[in-house]
Formats: sequence, structure tokens, C-alpha cells
Amino acid sequence: PVYSRAEFLTSAASLKGLPPETGREVAFAGRSNSGKSSAINTLCQQRALARTSKTPGRTQLINFFALDEDHRLVDLPGYGYAKVPEAVRRRWGHLMEQYLAGRECLRGLILVMDIRHPLTEHDWQMVGWAHRRHLPLHVLLTKADKLKRGPALDTVRQVASALGAEDVDATVQPFSSLKKQGVDDAHSVLDHWLFA
Ligand code: GTP
Ligand code: MG
Repeated sequence: PVYSRAEFLTSAASLKGLPPETGREVAFAGRSNSGKSSAINTLCQQRALARTSKTPGRTQLINFFALDEDHRLVDLPGYGYAKVPEAVRRRWGHLMEQYLAGRECLRGLILVMDIRHPLTEHDWQMVGWAHRRHLPLHVLLTKADKLKRGPALDTVRQVASALGAEDVDATVQPFSSLKKQGVDDAHSVLDHWLFA
């Protein structure tokens, strides 16, 4: 029930714009167009809490959503979008790295990947940053509705074993905002990180 009460809190374009470090938060990272904002909306049972778009690269700010006074979900800017100028891309990378390394109230990272294109170079970079900080990592393989059940589960296993092979401790699940698939599993992870 807490998730459905989520409200937009603030957007930050730089580290100075981050809200105070009270309580706990969980961040959603992933390639542009992977379905981060859609996943946040689905998990919060709201249609338009986070802005979604068919045009990649729309969420250029760090957007914060408050579940209550002490708990937040964070929509990080998407990466890997080819048409973004190099200077902008570098600034994003810097902002992400600083946020992930320094944000004490951050309790876990949800890495959102399109189930048809998992583990890009930038995804591995996020994995590396999370791993270095001993930040718990949970992978949502989104748009699972685009694959049949068998191939979807194969991808879940492949991603889990690729991460395991690099000594990364992560959980992996299929997810679909379109079909509302995987919502309970994702909620249990969030519950654990935010409220346990
Ligand atoms: P940026 O903000 O640009 O980084 O993208 P994002 O990761 O927030 O992606 P967003 O949630 O805006 O979704 C991108 C596109 O994918 C939209 O057209 C969504 O409708 C679509 N999409 C998101 N999740 C799903 C899903 O589970 N299934 C299907 N079929 N489409 C989805
Ligand atoms: Mg978005």
C-alpha cells in the first residue's frame, strides 16, 4: 500500500539539488528506453507518476518519488542513448558515479534492462559501481512480454550466471509493466531494502 501513495518529490540536475539524506531510498538505473519510469509507475500502481516516453533519453534529471517522509524511489537518467552529445554523456556519468558512491541513504540499486538487450557495456559500469560500494543489486528484465516464457527464463538464468561469474551478488527477475508481471517479487525486494 505504501507504493501506491508515492508522490513526486523533486528533480535534481546536480548533486547540490539532491533532497536531504533522511531515511532510505532505492534507485532505478538503466539504459534509455529500458522501462525504468514505467517500472516505477507499475510498482506504484500509478499511470503517470514518472514520465515515460517513446523517445529515449527523456529522463535527464534524477527524479525523486516519496513513499512517505523517510522512503524514496529514485529514477536515474537513462544512459547509452547514441544521439546524446559526448559532453552531456560525460556529465551524466559523473553525476551517476558521484550519486552512487556518495549517497549514504541509498540502500539498493534496481538495474532495469530490456530482456531482449541485457548487460550492455554501460550496464556493467553500473554493476561495477554498485559492487564497489557493496550496494545490493536487483535486476529487472523488463518488457518480458516481448519474449515467450521459455526464452525469457533462459535470459534470466543467463544474466544471473554472467553476474555470478564476475562475483557480483545480484538477484534477477523478469518484469513487464504492460502485463503487470513480476510486481510482487519486485515489491518484496523493495520492502526488504526500504523497510526491513
Ligand atoms: P528514459 O527515461 O529515456 O531513460 O527511458 P525509461 O527507461 O524511463 O523508459 P520508459 O519507462 O519511458 O519506457 C520506454 C518505452 O518502453 C515506452 O514506450 C514504454 O511504453 C515502453 N515499455 C516500458 N515497459 C514496458 C513493458 O514492460 N512492456 C512493453 N511492451 N513496453 C514497455
Ligand atoms: Mg524514464
